[in-house]
Amino acid sequence: MSAAIIDGKKIAEDIKNEIASEVLKLKQTGVVPHLSVVLVGDNPASEVYVRNKGKMCEEVGMSHETIKLPVSTFQDELLTLIGELNANPKVSGILVQLPLPKQINESVIINSIDPFKDVDCFHPFNVGKLSIGEPVFLPCTPAGVQELLLRSNADPSGKHTVIVGRSNIVGKPLASMLIQKSKGANSTVTVCHTGTKDLSYHTKQADILIAAMGQAEVIRGDMIKPGAVVIDVGMNRVADASKKSGFRLTGDVHFDSAKEVASAITPVPGGVGPMTIIMLMKNTLKAVLKK
Ligand code: GUN
Repeated sequence: MSAAIIDGKKIAEDIKNEIASEVLKLKQTGVVPHLSVVLVGDNPASEVYVRNKGKMCEEVGMSHETIKLPVSTFQDELLTLIGELNANPKVSGILVQLPLPKQINESVIINSIDPFKDVDCFHPFNVGKLSIGEPVFLPCTPAGVQELLLRSNADPSGKHTVIVGRSNIVGKPLASMLIQKSKGANSTVTVCHTGTKDLSYHTKQADILIAAMGQAEVIRGDMIKPGAVVIDVGMNRVADASKKSGFRLTGDVHFDSAKEVASAITPVPGGVGPMTIIMLMKNTLKAVLKK
């Protein structure tokens, strides 16, 4: 058996068109959604992410700005900037790209963002609202995973979903979403992490297996239940001398062995990645409507 490939690029493109037409409608009423992205320092991966976010804003018709600050920026300077963005009625959404330089406390920064402009859904207010089933925003990567499942006929309702990884950005909020009694959720969820004794035992129970631990190709075919749907959130750089860049991108799933066992699987790249950024656009649009 060879699994169906879940085409995140295509699904993201469909959602992009839906968002672009909503943005157009809003613009006709004189409202232009605006995303402010803050980048502190010169982390090359962050620069690529931030550039892609700006490009996507343009593609859906939103306005955007990227505010670049030097790596030596003090926490108070960043707090002042966020205060200004919070107070600016033209700014719909604020995203502070992580990681931040070590002199800046990420928690303090996340806490300073107006929860109704928090398009990452990282503010504890929004994490709490999500957890009690009253979400203001949905966190981008978990929302992308949920949307991929729904749009590839793999509704998690009534299924056993096993998530590997307990990060604040993916594992925890995704578990929180999928256990809700709501559309695209209502799942029995197990979360595995570095404290899990027998990872393979748990992964083999999964109807839906979500790999989000940030370790290259750990989930192999023999850890997957035949017919399971596999979503790979990982994005790892692995040294590869045959590539010009010296590395290749790979997920947390060993794709070649997994695709022989799963019924459907996301590739890396081209699976979850394109969905995350489109969900950010969806949140920016939502932010306008919340105001
Ligand atoms: N760094 C890596 N992923 C993300 C993300 O989703 N949001 C922010 N703000 N920073 C990130």
